[in-house]
Amino acid sequence: MERLGNTKLTLKMTNNNCVIYRCPSNIALVKYWGKKEGGVQLPANPSISWTLSDLHATTKVTRTEIEANFSRDIQFDFYLAGERKSSFEPKIRQFLERILPFMPQIKDFKWKIESTNNFPHGTGIASSAAGFGALALCFAEFQRMDFESKSENNPMRNEGEFLKIASKYARLGSGSACRSVYGEPGIWGETVSWEEANDEFAVPFNSEVHPSLKNWADVVLIVDDGEKSVSSTQGHDLLKEHPYAQSRYNQAQINLSRLLSLMQQGDVKGFISLVESEALQLHSMMMSSEPYYLLIRPNTVALIEKIWRKRSENQWPMAFTLDAGANVHLLYDKSYTSEVMNFIEAELLPYCKNSLYLCSDIGSGPIKI
Ligand code: PMV
Repeated sequence: MERLGNTKLTLKMTNNNCVIYRCPSNIALVKYWGKKEGGVQLPANPSISWTLSDLHATTKVTRTEIEANFSRDIQFDFYLAGERKSSFEPKIRQFLERILPFMPQIKDFKWKIESTNNFPHGTGIASSAAGFGALALCFAEFQRMDFESKSENNPMRNEGEFLKIASKYARLGSGSACRSVYGEPGIWGETVSWEEANDEFAVPFNSEVHPSLKNWADVVLIVDDGEKSVSSTQGHDLLKEHPYAQSRYNQAQINLSRLLSLMQQGDVKGFISLVESEALQLHSMMMSSEPYYLLIRPNTVALIEKIWRKRSENQWPMAFTLDAGANVHLLYDKSYTSEVMNFIEAELLPYCKNSLYLCSDIGSGPIKI
């Protein structure tokens, strides 16, 4: 196995027709919410996330050459946890159509895509970031192998170049997935605060993060595991006519810039307050969309208030954040693991659906298997 994102990758090619990658999910600290007009999946504002190393998708892609593909259709089958899932096929077809201009060989093969998540399906966790991250890495790997067999000068031999391409492909599947290809925090979207950042693919925040913000973990407190009433795709769309959209995009630019400094300086208090404010801004955009909607639930609010109370009593370095759903992510400094876990067990479990929570470390990238 080869770990990507935080160590060097050595190229190892054994079988040109089968690739397997494991890719983690991620949780945004500054949120992507809203797309630019024109282009495909370009963010209206920059975002940054932490990689949830222990919540991941593993995807195996096998290809079989098609003798004569007269129809020139993209041919694939998709399996999730061993079962054929035709309901997922339109999104995967769209992904393959979007990367086709960069990989015309897609039409020369029939593809079998087998994916599994290591977290229970229907926990409201953003499985699309892990799923499209793993899928994109597999297709980028096929492209790298095909280049290698044809040319001496394979630009994808360079790990950084490979990851940029994988990140771009992941973005074309699901925007936030593009940040999952790095173990380091992933920055996505143009910003003056980080020179390499751009809308096409995420880049790693490989600056020196202060030790006080290097060793954190996430506990996802499951409040609701049902279908969301408004999907992320619909939510992004509602920003087009949103009266506060431009202010939010400006604020996200400012917040990203501030967050990078806070992480470098190790200003934990500032970090906590910015991360929590971002989560509430995301949901306030939902509440002020037309039509307006609510994804948080009474237990989301109860958990947030419990976390605030505990923090004001004990000064523990912990923060909540939310993605586009009701679940609460509790981010905390791992030197407080036993205190935080006792707190969860004693006080937070009653607010979790079926007493379910998921734990993850932060900061290890994808693995080629
Ligand atoms: O990648 P999408 O289209 O599912 O959008 C996800 C957006 C948030 O999770 C709410 C925020 C983010 O930056 O991940």
